[in-house]
Amino acid sequence: MDVKSHWEQTFEARTPAQTSWYTPHLQHSLRWIKESGLPKTAAILDVGAGRSTLIDDLLTRGYTDLTALDISETALADIRQRLRQQAAFVTWIAGDVTTVSLPPSRYDLWHDRALFHFLTEPTQRHQYLDQIKRALKPGGLVMLSTFGPEGPVQCSGLAVCRYDRASLAAAFGQDFILQDAEIEMHMTPSGKPQQFLHARFVRAAD
Ligand SMILES: C[S@@+](CC[C@H](N)C(=O)[O-])C[C@H]1O[C@@H](n2cnc3c(N)ncnc32)[C@H](O)[C@@H]1O
Repeated sequence: MDVKSHWEQTFEARTPAQTSWYTPHLQHSLRWIKESGLPKTAAILDVGAGRSTLIDDLLTRGYTDLTALDISETALADIRQRLRQQAAFVTWIAGDVTTVSLPPSRYDLWHDRALFHFLTEPTQRHQYLDQIKRALKPGGLVMLSTFGPEGPVQCSGLAVCRYDRASLAAAFGQDFILQDAEIEMHMTPSGKPQQFLHARFVRAAD
């Protein structure tokens, strides 16, 4: 099955609480975004947004330039439905992050919780990094949450890559400076612990 069909079927078949990655609020991301000092007008892109409440929570906090990207139109439709009229203040991109057309030098922050680790092929990871380099402003930030070194080897029936601080920094290469990395134990709705690595990079000047 192709990647898009896999995710459409997943979101059609399962409620949020039936997905292992569900958490009511992306507290770690919200904290780092606040601490980053980005202005409320900063252009923020959430890739692999899924059905997470990050966009809702950023709107509530007064952020005004938000974009949600996902390969699953079902997931994006769920967020839109939840936001009602406020959905009009968000930009929606349905597509594969590795190939979809993104505006150049547009974003101050590239946020990704639990998408990057599904890119198990080097080619996919190169395409993903090329997309960041195209779409992120020089000096822009990347906040990424992947499975940690003791995280699961599969998620949603798909193989994943696991990262520690050093291997993630190596995967991102010299164009990105790792500023901070933290391990967090995520508790799935069914009560299983999953180790996540949160990493924050700044894009090096050209
Ligand atoms: C594990 S979920 C995480 C969702 C959300 N970030 C969260 O924390 O709840 C992974 C998300 O990445 C999306 N995704 C997977 N591969 C993708 C790709 N190549 N391009 C865009 N989205 C993708 C899936 O549709 C899904 O919404």
